Amino acid sequence: MINEIHKLIRRPSAGWDPVPLDYAKTYSARQFDTLELQLISALEERLGGLKGREVLDLGAGPGQYSIAFSVRGAQVVHFDISQNYQKICQEQAALRGATHLSYRLGYLDDADGILNSQFDLVFNRQCWYYCVNDRAFSKTFFNLMKPGGLAYIETSNSNFGLNRKSHPPLLYHLYQLTGYKALHLHPPSGWVEAYLRKMPIDILDADYSNPEFDRLVFRRKMET
Ligand SMILES: C[S@@+](CC[C@H](N)C(=O)[O-])C[C@H]1O[C@@H](n2cnc3c(N)ncnc32)[C@H](O)[C@@H]1O
Repeated sequence: MINEIHKLIRRPSAGWDPVPLDYAKTYSARQFDTLELQLISALEERLGGLKGREVLDLGAGPGQYSIAFSVRGAQVVHFDISQNYQKICQEQAALRGATHLSYRLGYLDDADGILNSQFDLVFNRQCWYYCVNDRAFSKTFFNLMKPGGLAYIETSNSNFGLNRKSHPPLLYHLYQLTGYKALHLHPPSGWVEAYLRKMPIDILDADYSNPEFDRLVFRRKMET
């Protein structure tokens, strides 16, 4: 509820940006250095190639993955709430010769309404927990996938050390009881997968080898 009210008042389209430029620059520098090339190659293989594929980087931040997908030939939409990150991605894309990129600003929860389009790959790394409501967002997420399309979600979960210290246990209790959250609580491990399994999926591979992170790759069923 608090998050929903916040979302009504703070509009990125009116110039509001939750990410200070200095922070965005520091985070970006680190991310371009630690890009997981193996992950990109694995997704490329599962898609049968990135060339000409439509990719959505949802909550893209500095756009290190947007740029990497674009350089491999995909048509990429960089979607984020932050203009500072959008500008950083535009600068980096120019430096790195990534040309097949477009940019949209907005809340994760509104992405299907804003984009009104579906993608071969929806890529969502380290930002699921900024959604207002996990159940509603998992539906939004599916609306963004083409039938037969692929998705990657990587999110820190409620085991994440920093999170445990910074969020009161009562908020977690209410979140687990009601599904509604205040602040940006990280979902308990396995929650995101449980929501997705209510959707029409064909294949879902989950990796919980690091107890602080949920990593999911899944495919939306082809429509019959
Ligand atoms: C930890 S960063 C991850 C960025 C990028 N996906 C990566 O892998 O480095 C979280 C991102 O979520 C974005 N973000 C935060 N709240 C958001 C919201 N409500 N809607 C859309 N994006 C949001 C931030 O601007 C930031 O780019």
